[in-house]
Amino acid sequence: MMALSDSNQTGTGDDGNAEAGGFIRLFAPAKINLYLHVLGQRDDGYHLLDSLMAFAGIGDVIAVRAREGITLSIDGPFASRIDAGGDNLVLKAARALRSATGIKSGAEIILTKNLPVASGIGGGSADGAAALRALARLWGISLDKSAMAALALGLGADVPFCLEGRAAFVGGIGEEITTAPTLPDAWVVLVNPLTPLSTPAVFKARTGEFSPSGRFDAIAGNGGELAALLTERRNDLTQAAISLMPEIGEILAAFEVLPNCLLGRMSGSGATCFGLFADEPSARDAEKTLMAGKKWWVKAAALIGDARDLDEEGKV
Ligand code: C5P
Repeated sequence: MMALSDSNQTGTGDDGNAEAGGFIRLFAPAKINLYLHVLGQRDDGYHLLDSLMAFAGIGDVIAVRAREGITLSIDGPFASRIDAGGDNLVLKAARALRSATGIKSGAEIILTKNLPVASGIGGGSADGAAALRALARLWGISLDKSAMAALALGLGADVPFCLEGRAAFVGGIGEEITTAPTLPDAWVVLVNPLTPLSTPAVFKARTGEFSPSGRFDAIAGNGGELAALLTERRNDLTQAAISLMPEIGEILAAFEVLPNCLLGRMSGSGATCFGLFADEPSARDAEKTLMAGKKWWVKAAALIGDARDLDEEGKV
């Protein structure tokens, strides 16, 4: 376990609304871009996006309890891979919340890092959003929704969506969130090649025309209907990501030959890709097949449209 402290911050140790056992624990689910269109680019370099985003029933866990100062320790399978300096989004979230409210309380924060880092499934963004929610609860802060959303956007383009916690069409650079039609019960298999891929580098490598918006009103009744809608859309960052990391092409090819895989696609700026499946048994079969190669991180998980009531293990 790595232990870090933000020694510039001092606190009163005021324990706010701590729950039984002292720790408030929140699940920080992976996000999935079911499609991602790049619509344009702003003068400051950020890209205007249109994406249908949802969650998977796998994620990191944030635990917080009252103490003096702010400390962050990291455990879990990807603890050693995370950049946990002052730039860590969890510490940034704590600092942003304190400076927005003037609150002086401290917190011991433990991050259990189950998701690969810099991987297109929003691990850092999910952690930042969960830290904001957990610390607001610990410290008894009730900022209004728009103030929290502004804090979230300051942490990263995907953080407002993670804070919202519901499947949505996401626009602008990530700040325009429109609740999406209900998603069907379906499963995904996430595959990551275990090499981080830099989001700015992928955006920089993108070439070609911009796309129109891909939003739809239809309600997909099952995984097959969702796949049909998604097949007419795409992830516009795929070619750029493959040009930087050809292994992404291998992962997508592996999905193409899997029985029962309804769609294979990259999420976000990569490198994680997801296969869409109608149900858990077909996703588990695919997980087994893909794990046999043993070189990738492979996880089957439920597709989640509403992550707000998930427990710390990602279950309803
Ligand atoms: O906001 P976030 O830290 O996730 O973004 C990382 C980088 O990805 C940005 O600095 C920018 O280069 C690129 N990006 C972008 N357009 C977006 C989101 C991110 O160009 N909408």
